Amino acid sequence: MSMNQTFGRREFLKTAAAAAGIAGLPSLALAQGAKIKIGLMLPYTGTYAQLGVAITNGFKLAVAESGGKLGGREPEYFTVDDESEPSKATDNANKLVTRDKVDVLIGTVHSGVEMGIIKIVRESGVLHINPNAGVAAATGALCAPNIFRTSFANSQTTYPMGKVLADRGVKSVVTLTWKYAAGEEMVEGFKDGYAKGGGKILKELYLPFPSVEFQSLLTEIASLKPEAVFVFFAGGGAAKFLKDWQAAGLKGKIGLYGSGFLTDGVLDAVGGAAEGVETTLHYGDGIETPKNKTFRLNYAKTFKLQPDVYAVQGYDAGLLLAAGLKAVKGDVSKKKELIAAMEKAEIDSPRGRWKMSKDHNPIQDMYLRKVVGKENKVTGVAIKALDYPARGCKMG
Ligand code: BEZ
Repeated sequence: MSMNQTFGRREFLKTAAAAAGIAGLPSLALAQGAKIKIGLMLPYTGTYAQLGVAITNGFKLAVAESGGKLGGREPEYFTVDDESEPSKATDNANKLVTRDKVDVLIGTVHSGVEMGIIKIVRESGVLHINPNAGVAAATGALCAPNIFRTSFANSQTTYPMGKVLADRGVKSVVTLTWKYAAGEEMVEGFKDGYAKGGGKILKELYLPFPSVEFQSLLTEIASLKPEAVFVFFAGGGAAKFLKDWQAAGLKGKIGLYGSGFLTDGVLDAVGGAAEGVETTLHYGDGIETPKNKTFRLNYAKTFKLQPDVYAVQGYDAGLLLAAGLKAVKGDVSKKKELIAAMEKAEIDSPRGRWKMSKDHNPIQDMYLRKVVGKENKVTGVAIKALDYPARGCKMG
């Protein structure tokens, strides 16, 4: 057998790998036309299952609109159902990073699960885009160059609602939410905005995640007789809460307010139970821009579903990654340039154009919305270009 005949696949790989190390030459994976490996770590079961599906759909729609490729490379998906279970989060993230060797990890919804992802991506340096979980530390004390968020910081969505109620002179509020990072930070943000108006928080009520045993809490609220109730619930839990609120006879008696997660993606499931509920969020169904109209049409056509805020956040994660990979022509090994391009990207989103803050969280308009029929109708802008002040972020 001649030397030439023995120069097989392994030798070719070695030579290409050596070449890839030479400045200016593309990485090995790129040279071989390899697919880009995308890890999706999202909830596909449990109370947040619908949110995980909407994010996945939104992301894939953005890829389809980029011609089915990212930086010229076809995507290969690796999917893990994280079940919104924080105790499994580091193991699940490790499956994608260590076993599947993904180039980018997209996830997740639940703030507690996000903390596990952050541990793994900080250790491994794998590029990470968070399309929902609002936990403050992700873009605060635990921020890092490879960690980006296309959604919100929890309190960024609720501070505006507090301010709206303060401006309206609402004098007494009870808060109610799940007892975990997202619920606690949402209530903190609301209280920050509300405090300036001189109103009183009568009581902060909590139940464990993902419990939907609301009955005794609704009885307590009825006896406290606040002027308004502020809640954070999302997904299946939000739908159940809205129906229970109506069944308890509180609808129309006490004003119900929340961050927009209370009414997004649930209006078909709750009949008229959400009618008139006001919320603040960085998206609203009826935003009157050509971009939003086209997005809603394409999403509905492709998935036979109406999009919601979660679909928008997934879509924007796709746009952000596409912008980064375009700048490096698909070469993920050019980390610095990839990150710089993502930091600079202006995202033409269905929510309105937005840019990253220096801690990698969207600077975005926060809308005031009201449920009218099957729509989260935008009634105004509660706060323009809100930049959540990240505490403790030192990008190193
Ligand atoms: C969170 O856990 O961060 C979260 C979950 C659902 C909606 C909004 C925030």
